[in-house]
Amino acid sequence: MDKKRRRIIQASLAGSAALLTGCGKVQTESEDVITRQVNGDPLHILMLGGTGFIGPHMVRELLRRGHEVTLFNRGRTNRNIFPDLELLVGDRDGKLDALKGGSWDAVIDNSGYVPRHVADSAKLLSPVVSQYIFTSSVAAYAAMSGNQTASLYHDVDMPNTEYDSPLTKMLDQTAPTYGPLKVLCEREATQVMGEDRMTILRPVYIAGPGDRSDRLTYWPVRVARGGEMLAPGKPDYPMQTVDARDIATFVADCVEGRIMGIYNMTTPPGVYTMGQLLADCQAVSGTEVDLTWVDLPFIEENGLYTNESSNNNLPHWGPPSGDTRSDFIVNGDRAFNAGMRTRPIRETLRDTLAWWKTLPEDRRKNMRAGLSAEREAELLVAWHKLHDQRQTKLIS
Ligand SMILES: NC(=O)c1ccc[n+]([C@@H]2O[C@H](COP(=O)([O-])OP(=O)(O)OC[C@H]3O[C@@H](n4cnc5c(N)ncnc54)[C@H](OP(=O)(O)O)[C@@H]3O)[C@@H](O)[C@H]2O)c1
Repeated sequence: MDKKRRRIIQASLAGSAALLTGCGKVQTESEDVITRQVNGDPLHILMLGGTGFIGPHMVRELLRRGHEVTLFNRGRTNRNIFPDLELLVGDRDGKLDALKGGSWDAVIDNSGYVPRHVADSAKLLSPVVSQYIFTSSVAAYAAMSGNQTASLYHDVDMPNTEYDSPLTKMLDQTAPTYGPLKVLCEREATQVMGEDRMTILRPVYIAGPGDRSDRLTYWPVRVARGGEMLAPGKPDYPMQTVDARDIATFVADCVEGRIMGIYNMTTPPGVYTMGQLLADCQAVSGTEVDLTWVDLPFIEENGLYTNESSNNNLPHWGPPSGDTRSDFIVNGDRAFNAGMRTRPIRETLRDTLAWWKTLPEDRRKNMRAGLSAEREAELLVAWHKLHDQRQTKLIS
């Protein structure tokens, strides 16, 4: 067993011992898992959603550490990505039969978006798993879910996103949205499993090779094209992300060390900016661009910001005001204290750009986020016209 794993296990054994005395229901199962953890034996992990973006990174990390992985999904996404692994085909929406009769040390739930689906799988799995890891989102926090104001640049009284920040609520039951649904999913799983057996991960925007949203990917890819480039807001606006590979390492630590609790997954706050991101994009692509920073009224008037991934907006970005006030100042201390490590964002940008270049041309022609070349050129013309008018006014 490597030293890191031994350290994690030792650190978590005190908590696990409390679990054993405090919760008779899982005593035998947990004892068995802990024995195998201490021995460094392979653990058996069930992945609900192991074939999309972040799932494969987790699967690879678990396999690299010698564990056994079973996949459960519909068989639609990246169907042949792990030909040697057992694939249980089913659907979170009422088709869980393939899970019946199985037994695992831990389940990692990457595909929980609907509370009823999460409740169903938790109820079915509770007797046969000793840890439920639910991938939630920082959208679970009220400050992150975009309900505060319609404007990007009006000041709102919103704190940084801390662990005790209020969670978001469903404002309209007839139109459920992502953040409030994630909160309800977290609650369903916790209610069934109990806090002692729950690990909840709340990532910020995730990035890295394999990202199917193209949100962070847009920035290095755009910089690599060169020329004059529209840059949003101000260079000193804060920026955070988390590399899917760093989440994967932490998840594997959680499984091996029985790490329970709620963890924000993010690079540290207050140490990286949009200006640095664009400088790093130039460094990793080897391309210099001529940056034109446009202001928030211009961005808002032209409908360039939305936190959904879609074409012709500015993805993975937001000013430290208005709706996005808290989006890039998320506290990840609890995860760092539990052993989470995040790589430099420059490395994420470098590897994402390298991965992007390996994709088929058709896919690269149809980026799923960011401004198209045509739209960006139009916007730059409009910005310079506005700027010239302002200059003329100032002079006269
Ligand atoms: N990407 C981000 O920036 C971000 C940020 C914060 C949190 N998260 C959370 O991270 C998790 C994973 O995100 P991701 O981007 O890796 O997702 P993804 O790429 O969409 O992958 C989803 C996985 O779930 C499976 N799946 C989807 N619907 C299913 C269903 N009804 N029944 C069974 N399996 C189903 C898919 O396989 P099949 O299609 O074959 O079923 C696939 O393996 C999600 O919970 C998301 O909310 C993501």
